This record gives sequence, C-alpha cells and structure tokens, in this order.
Amino acid sequence: MSKTDEIKTLFNEYVMPTYSPSLVLEKGRGTKVWDTDGKVYLDFVAGISVNNVGHCHPRVVDAIQRQAADLMHVSNLYYTENQARLAWRLSRLSLDGKVFFCNSGAEANEGLIKLARLWGHKDEKFEIISMTGSFHGRTLATAAMTGQEKVQKGFDPMPEGFFPADFNDLDCVRAMITDNTAAIIVEAVQGEGGVVPADESFFKGIRVLCDEHGLLMLCDEVQCGLGRSGSWFGYQAYGVTPDAISLAKSLGSGYPIGAVVAGPKLADIFSPGKHASTFGGTPLACAAALATLDVLEDEDLVSRATIAGAKFQAALEELTSRYEHVSAVRGRGLMLGMVLDQAAAPVTEILQDMGLLTLATAGNVIRFMPPLNVKDAELEEAIEMLDEALEIWHDDLNAAAEAVAEAAGEVEAPAEEEAPAEAEAAEEAVEESEEEAKVE
Ligand SMILES: Cc1ncc(COP(=O)(O)O)c(C=O)c1O
Repeated sequence: MSKTDEIKTLFNEYVMPTYSPSLVLEKGRGTKVWDTDGKVYLDFVAGISVNNVGHCHPRVVDAIQRQAADLMHVSNLYYTENQARLAWRLSRLSLDGKVFFCNSGAEANEGLIKLARLWGHKDEKFEIISMTGSFHGRTLATAAMTGQEKVQKGFDPMPEGFFPADFNDLDCVRAMITDNTAAIIVEAVQGEGGVVPADESFFKGIRVLCDEHGLLMLCDEVQCGLGRSGSWFGYQAYGVTPDAISLAKSLGSGYPIGAVVAGPKLADIFSPGKHASTFGGTPLACAAALATLDVLEDEDLVSRATIAGAKFQAALEELTSRYEHVSAVRGRGLMLGMVLDQAAAPVTEILQDMGLLTLATAGNVIRFMPPLNVKDAELEEAIEMLDEALEIWHDDLNAAAEAVAEAAGEVEAPAEEEAPAEAEAAEEAVEESEEEAKVE
C-alpha cells in the first residue's frame, strides 16, 4: 500500500468524519504545498486565511523553535513576557484597550458573547443580533450566533438570544433591536457566506445604530482580519471603531491562538474568575503571533494585500467578461470570490487536479485567499490555470446541455421546456453543494 493510501485508510478509519479531505499534504513553503506523491500545488486556500505570511515562514519557525526550547507553557496564574508584549501590540494596532487570549475563532467569539452579556447583565441586555450568511464558529453558542441554518441543524435546542438580521439591510437590523439587545456582531467581509463585503452605508450605519440605542458593535475579524482584506482589520476600511473584535486564524500562522480585543469601554469588564482558558496566550503561541506580526509589518504585507488583490481582481474580472457562466467577482484585498451561476465544486476540483488549491464556498463561489506575500508570478500562474479550468468546465457544461437537448429531442419534448429544466438542475446542484460545503 502506498504511503498516501495508508494515511487515507488510517484517517478514514479513526478520524471522525466531520471533514471530507482530498489530498494528503506533507510540506509547505511560501505559497506552495506538496502532497505525499511529491506533486506541488499553489495554495490559494492558505488554511482558509491562516497562512497569511505563507507556509513555514522562516521567522515564525525560528521564533517557535527558540521559544519551545525555553518555555512552552505555564499557567495564567503567572505573568509571561510574550503575552504582555502581544497584548500591547494588538491593542495598539486596533482598539487601544485590552486583550483576552484563547485558542480559536469560535473561542474568541464565545469571549465576545460573554463580554457582551456581562456588560449588559445589570440592564437585562443579553440578545445579540448577527447577520444572515455570517459564520462565527461551531461551538453551540457561536453556531447559534451564525446566520446559517445548516450549521445548527440537528443540534437543537440551540442556546437562546441570537437573532440573525439580513446582511447589508440596515432597516432589518434596526427592526430587530429590542430592550434586551446587548450587541450587534458583523463581519466586514463575510468569508463563509460567499466572500461578501459589508456595504459602506450598512457598516457605518451599524455603528450609528449602536450609538443611538446604547449597544455594542462587535466585529468578527477571524477571517478578514490581520491584513487579509487589505487593512490591518476589516473594520478599518470603513472608518468606524467597534467596541470589541475577535481574532484567530492567521494570528499564529498555524500555531493555534485566538484573541478578543476590547476597546476602553469593555477593557475591564472581565474580572478575575469570570473567564479563562488553560492554553490562552501561552509563551509559545504568543511567540508565533509576535513573529507573525513582525513579518506582516516588516514585509509590508497589509499594503501588499491591497496591491496584489487589485491586480488579481482585475485579472479575475477579465475572465468574468469572457466566460458565460461566471457572473461576478467580489471581495477585498486578497479575500476574493468568483461567483458562478452554477455549483463551484466542479471547477475547484479541476483546479486542484491542475495544481491550484481553491475553495468552493456558499455553493457557487470560488474563494481565493493566497498568502499575502504571494508572488506576482504565482498570481499569473493561478490565472492561467483558472482560465484553462473555466474553459474545460464550460466545455463540460455545453456537452451536458447538448446531451440533455438530444435526449429531449428523442422524446420530442417542446424546446421551451428545456431551459427551465436545465436551470432547475443547476439550482439544485448549487443547493446540494451548499449543503455539503465544508465550512471551516
Ligand atoms: C469569520 C469566522 N469566525 C469564526 C470562525 C471560527 O473559527 P475556528 O474554526 O478557529 O473556531 C471562522 C472559521 O472559519 C470564521 O471564518
């Protein structure tokens, strides 16, 4: 049995089937990853926005190795230098407040929920308005806060107090505010929701609503933060300041670390004993995060996301104008989506075979999130592969349509019925792949 088959067999037998992985990957450098058969891929998934500084950046590897030799973990009963320095840097980069460290995006969002509830407790404010299409995690409370039913299906009764309003519809958000509302949570760019940026008037309007009604504005920056969407944090592109944000994913470049950063209003709401996490902010995790911030700053990767993103977006738009079944391109920085009028999975599968890793999201969107230090030549290579993949896919679609038309001709079905039948099939395929979508 080959090494690849052995790993797959073991994995399928002993790992719970919450994911449906395809390749067996064993090495990464920069934008490239290698599978166990030695095939190289351009990684435009980048750990779903974890590898913002690329795979195994030497400065991050070095920081982890050095710290691992000194001190990996001590309880939060003790001060540690890296945690103090990281909190200072995150605070300075964002809200000028204080930080709580944890291990994941879901845990950071749980932190936001607890912070908002504690803040609103004396006034019986505990409800949180979230957005349709949002994604906040897989713990029960963060799944309840997530505005996608498929994430909640089968786990009811869900924790109470979460109400999804229509994303980018300020009137809908306004109508959902009650005397018990504590906070509104929003992503500047919805990743799992299909790479959908918040409209400027909507995002700014949420801040105004929060101020008018005495609510907290919370931003989930887990995916769009830390340079990904072209500014240090997604909210900064709108010129508004939230009361607290959640971070994770790229903060440790692959070493797990999450954080809640609260502005001055919320900085001292948690008192000792109110919240905790054994592994929150270990010297090792914070070393990885400090090195990640160094790389982002020293290599000017936040600007790079804007520049490379604009270049890549222009190339994607050029493809959009040439292919019938590509409807639009959207996103910000290096968080971009190509919207198809059909399920995206067949295209991402063709791309993977060709050597480009991308992600089908929200059913019909191909998501591109390369490392922020992706080279121009790599962007060009990706566009060439995408061009070829779209051509193959269109040929496949045309061949399938011809086969349907031929079969319909044989039974002499009226011509006008063909189009609706095809459209229905395409719609069903999008729905199915949405259902199956591997949400991070
Ligand atoms: C916006 C957003 N929030 C939260 C999460 C959950 O993060 P984690 O998987 O680290 O719990 C994700 C994961 O995809 C995300 O995209």
